[in-house]
Amino acid sequence: MALMTVALAKGRTSNSSIKLLQSAGFHFDDIEDNTRKLVFYDKERKVKLISVKAVDVPTYVEKGAADIGIVGKDNILEAQSDLYELLDLNFGQCKFVVAGLNSSLQQRSRLTVASKYPVVAQNHFQRKGIPIETIKLNGSVELAPLIGMADVIVDIVETGRTLRENGLTVLEELDHISTRLIVNKASFATKTDTIEDFVTKLKKALEG
Ligand code: PRP
Repeated sequence: MALMTVALAKGRTSNSSIKLLQSAGFHFDDIEDNTRKLVFYDKERKVKLISVKAVDVPTYVEKGAADIGIVGKDNILEAQSDLYELLDLNFGQCKFVVAGLNSSLQQRSRLTVASKYPVVAQNHFQRKGIPIETIKLNGSVELAPLIGMADVIVDIVETGRTLRENGLTVLEELDHISTRLIVNKASFATKTDTIEDFVTKLKKALEG
């Protein structure tokens, strides 16, 4: 098996991803919860793991800096990158929603939408034929409707706690999100056996 580079999203799903890789037989000795290291090799030196911001994983894979990426569907949809999505890993389950105050969608001909996902927001409202202005934020998006900066937000909801604690409600439910395995198109053509072997091992680990 040739060496393969896997870009792993940092953050809330990284522990589940590492556990899955371990169940599939890939062990990384020096991965600890609070490590600042960014590059890891498995014991057999078949996989080089690079730890990157979730939002950047599709870019690393599209550009060929990584053969494979493990990242949420939210970031895949937002990036619109040219790559293959091969496997649903089923963890990191959440959903895209439009949320706001109860009155947020009433009597407005044009909406201001705050989001970490402006492309997803734009696409959703375009499909509905509603013109919007997007405001790109990088976090604490729930604040925007509370302070009058936006009418609504498009964001991911997992437990619903952040919306609840800020007095916001779900106004529309959009796509279901989970962690996916993505592959660089050229790598899939040149390292087909290696990638298929890797995917098969992960599938078996998921079933087991
Ligand atoms: C995400 C998301 C919501 C929250 C939803 O933010 O943007 O704010 O989690 O989770 P919940 O439904 O379980 O409350 P994240 O925690 O990544 O923080 P951020 O605001 O810094 O982006």
